[in-house]
Amino acid sequence: MAKHRGVSSEFRTIPGPVPTPPNGNLADIAAAGGLHTFQLELHERYGPVARFDLPGTRVVSVADPELLAATSRINRRPQELFEFLSPLFEAGNLQTIGEDEHVPWRRLLLSALGNHRSHEAHFGEFTRLTLDLADRWAAHAGEISLQEELSELSLRLIVEFAMGSEVGSAQRTSTAFRDLIAEYLGRQYGSEFSEAHAAEMLAHVRRTITGILDAGQPGAGLVTMLAESGWDPARIRDTALVVVMAGYHTSGVAVSWALHLLAHHPEVAQRLRDELDRVLGDRPAPAYDELKSLDYLERVVKEAMRRYPPGPYAARELPEDLVLDDYLIPAGTTLMYPIWAIHLNPAYWPEPERFDPDRFTAAEAQRRPKFAFIPFGFGPRSCEGAALAMVEIKLMLAVLVKRFDFVPVPGHEVTPVERFVLWAQDDIRMTVSPR
Ligand code: HEM
Repeated sequence: MAKHRGVSSEFRTIPGPVPTPPNGNLADIAAAGGLHTFQLELHERYGPVARFDLPGTRVVSVADPELLAATSRINRRPQELFEFLSPLFEAGNLQTIGEDEHVPWRRLLLSALGNHRSHEAHFGEFTRLTLDLADRWAAHAGEISLQEELSELSLRLIVEFAMGSEVGSAQRTSTAFRDLIAEYLGRQYGSEFSEAHAAEMLAHVRRTITGILDAGQPGAGLVTMLAESGWDPARIRDTALVVVMAGYHTSGVAVSWALHLLAHHPEVAQRLRDELDRVLGDRPAPAYDELKSLDYLERVVKEAMRRYPPGPYAARELPEDLVLDDYLIPAGTTLMYPIWAIHLNPAYWPEPERFDPDRFTAAEAQRRPKFAFIPFGFGPRSCEGAALAMVEIKLMLAVLVKRFDFVPVPGHEVTPVERFVLWAQDDIRMTVSPR
């Protein structure tokens, strides 16, 4: 297909639903149950490239992985979508800072966050926190709200990672982060917002990080690593906040969706257990070095994130005109990556609703285009926490599947909704009993 044309009239009009000013397609989005389900319907009806309007914003959504490749160098994020988090930042909203500042920030963050030594250094504490939760479940033996419990656990892991075990393990620290994030998400998604409580929690979080910086504890956590690199204290506080915010619900919902799928696919659960029993023997948790030999675990985690991506979409803003297939998308347009719709695109995922971890054998994965599976986004704004998240998720899932049987509570309906992450509306409730 022609990629470059001289005359704009040769381009086709991008299909999509008719917008109603001034709210664009907000009513259609609400009727679909949210942006995540709206995007599924949008692409089913209009094909892989479709447009819609948010108030004051023209959006083009691209659900074809081959076409996405042409966008993989775009760095800019649209301001409006992340505006609600701006008050959290002292030195500029890290989710939307310009490329000049973002590129060196990302490089340094990745050097601290993305390296295996830092994951390994925290793995003992991650294991202790996960086993604590498992012990509580074993003592409780009954119905559990997985999403709530596992989000709380993943909050504890990421706070420990960011602040070090001494400060990070204090209940007061994770409560301050939890309340702060709950206030901001609540405001965005229509619950009550207490400005005074949010301000108090933000002040507490900032004071705590400043305390770590002043004490200069070597090797404690991400905050200390960044201080050693000579970062400005305001940027460090902002970075710790964005890391905790990004790592709080995401890893926890990934594990709860995986357990939901496993509970409905006992043959997959059994195969996973067989692998865990074989590699771990009687031990309740894998050692860090063993994670790489748990092949089937990795496939299960990936397939669960395909079916229920914790981050259901990502966005960019076009710095210049983009020609995509037969379409010309003008500069300034918001480009959406509808991650859920991409992961369910039947052209690349036959029977997309079927849960089948063997889609992720090396041979199968090689047959697909690179961007058919993008739970962590892609390009210069992709998730810096991807490798760490995989470590956390595999650890949590290995410990829980090894130790417990999970049976869905009869009559309890699990409905995916978007609440910053792909969330289950009334949680995922299961009866959990030791094997
Ligand atoms: C299952 C777990 C997680 C998932 C599915 C996930 C997914 C995502 C997605 C989809 C994005 C947007 C990417 C894009 O625009 O292309 C993102 C951004 C980000 N994530 Fe994650 N994430 C997870 C866990 C984490 C963790 C544990 C951390 C921190 C340790 C983290 C830190 C970040 C940061 C800092 C960004 C902003 C990237 C930037 O603007 O440069 N994430 N994540």
